[in-house]
Amino acid sequence: MSFRLQPPAPARPNRCQLFGPGSRPAIFAKMAASEADVINLDLEDSVAPSDKAQARENIIEAISAVDWGRKTLSVRINGLDTPWWYRDVVDLLEKGGARLDQIMIPKVGCAEDIYAVDALVTAVERAMGRTKPIAFEVIIESAAGISHVEDIAKASPRLQAMSLGAADFAASMGMQTTGIGGTQENYYMLREGAKHWSDPWHWAQAAIVAACRTHGILPVDGPFGDFSDDEGFRAQARRSATLGMVGKWAIHPKQVTLANEVFTPSEQAVAEAREILDAMEAAKARGEGATVYKGRLVDIASIKQAEVIVRQAELIAG
Ligand code: COA
Ligand code: MG
Repeated sequence: MSFRLQPPAPARPNRCQLFGPGSRPAIFAKMAASEADVINLDLEDSVAPSDKAQARENIIEAISAVDWGRKTLSVRINGLDTPWWYRDVVDLLEKGGARLDQIMIPKVGCAEDIYAVDALVTAVERAMGRTKPIAFEVIIESAAGISHVEDIAKASPRLQAMSLGAADFAASMGMQTTGIGGTQENYYMLREGAKHWSDPWHWAQAAIVAACRTHGILPVDGPFGDFSDDEGFRAQARRSATLGMVGKWAIHPKQVTLANEVFTPSEQAVAEAREILDAMEAAKARGEGATVYKGRLVDIASIKQAEVIVRQAELIAG
């Protein structure tokens, strides 16, 4: 480890973030009754411009009126290039009640975007005497966002989570696809005439995970648009989990179970991690730094790998 230690990410489950348009209040109670760890009520791109003001009112009422249980309650505000975002922030904090945990800032392009929202949030919090500081989460979904991802990750102590938004990201990058995440038909290698599909989201995900882990933030995979394709969702989510992401969005309630399944370490994985820790304890007692577990090398690095899985399981259980 560097002399500068890696800070831990917030210790809360974030396996699934369920989205719903603020203009559709009939689904708020269903969202609250779901198994998602995080609820994202949306004011941004799932709400038509003519509905923005009404959606804001719906959300402000629901923050206090709906029983959100122990979920993290987050509202996605409009982007900083719109005329709506400042009113989103001011009204949510002045009228939204204490239950609101987090604001999601979309299409973040640079650290100054966070600074601007932070300054406004801080002023309203002080004026209102709010004692619970609002947390931030951001979406990396533009060329600028991914280019400045590390600056963004360290922009504010309020920042807790960062998601990759595949659709806007693809548009901003000029990618030739209308798919929202997952396998892209034309992204393949050829070998002996056979196609082998590769993952065009991989590098952006890895950059986000590195920035997040450096600065103690939760890295999250964003939407998977084809909610009829459970196996496609699972495959995307498993790749994200393998890369170090802690969860994924659900844009339809049926995706919540899938995300929870993938981002909850399996009993078998936890049992194996505990066995590795035991094997290393025994090795240490013998004065060894490395040993053999099920025919493969485990050493002091394996302890940290196993602890990631055990910690995640304990966090979810507790
Ligand atoms: N959260 C909770 N419940 C939801 C829901 C959501 N996001 N979306 C739909 N439901 C409910 C429906 O009300 C319906 O309930 P019922 O069985 O009691 O009637 C049930 O789930 C099945 O819904 P279905 O008919 O399959 O979907 P739909 O046509 O009503 O809505 C979408 C489909 C995609 C429009 C809707 O899920 C949605 O708006 N998703 C979120 C979009 C969003 O927020 N995007 C921004 C982030 S990318
Ligand atoms: Mg977007």
